[in-house]
Amino acid sequence: MKIGILISGRGSNMVALVDAVGSGKIPASEVAVVISDKADAAGLEKARKRGVETVVIERRRRTREEHDAEIIAELNKRGVELVCLAGYMRLLSPPFVAAFPNKIINIHPSLLPSFPGLNVQQQALDAGVKISGCTVHFVNDDLDAGPIIAQKAVQVLDDDTAETLAARILEQEHTLYVEAVRRICTTETQRAQSISGDA
Ligand code: GRF
Repeated sequence: MKIGILISGRGSNMVALVDAVGSGKIPASEVAVVISDKADAAGLEKARKRGVETVVIERRRRTREEHDAEIIAELNKRGVELVCLAGYMRLLSPPFVAAFPNKIINIHPSLLPSFPGLNVQQQALDAGVKISGCTVHFVNDDLDAGPIIAQKAVQVLDDDTAETLAARILEQEHTLYVEAVRRICTTETQRAQSISGDA
């Protein structure tokens, strides 16, 4: 499978995925492109250093659909089959979701359906939960609401701040995201092999 990754910032989950493809842990042919909607996203340099092509596609004054259409075109141009959102801070338009049915996934730093959206760790602290964590899920038209693929729990400590909790969850995100993508790529490869075996 060819993977495309969308980022808006730091890109640590993107790095975890790129490195796992590079080491063979994820059985994908390549990360074909990293696309950012922010020209100053720190993740862009990290991707380039790893030899991955990067493209910046800013929203500018366009509609969400126009912006997404350009991203879809860049993904299709490279034959991307699995789109991984990794800190991509925009809600995808319905045509984007429809262009890659069940092939867009996201990582979110809470145990969904609890605490969707932004300021997630502060939401968890304010609610007083003792367990939080992270979720990999399929992307649908609603924010952080698609079918859940995998989750990992992280204990909330009494003296946690949003920052300390975020840092411990982020560590788990990296392994969870790699494992989820590994499973998807493995299943897809087996499916393709059984189809070619049938032919
Ligand atoms: C992560 O916490 C991810 O769960 C959320 O945004 C953050 C992105 O971090 N969607 P990074 O850019 O992958 O370092």
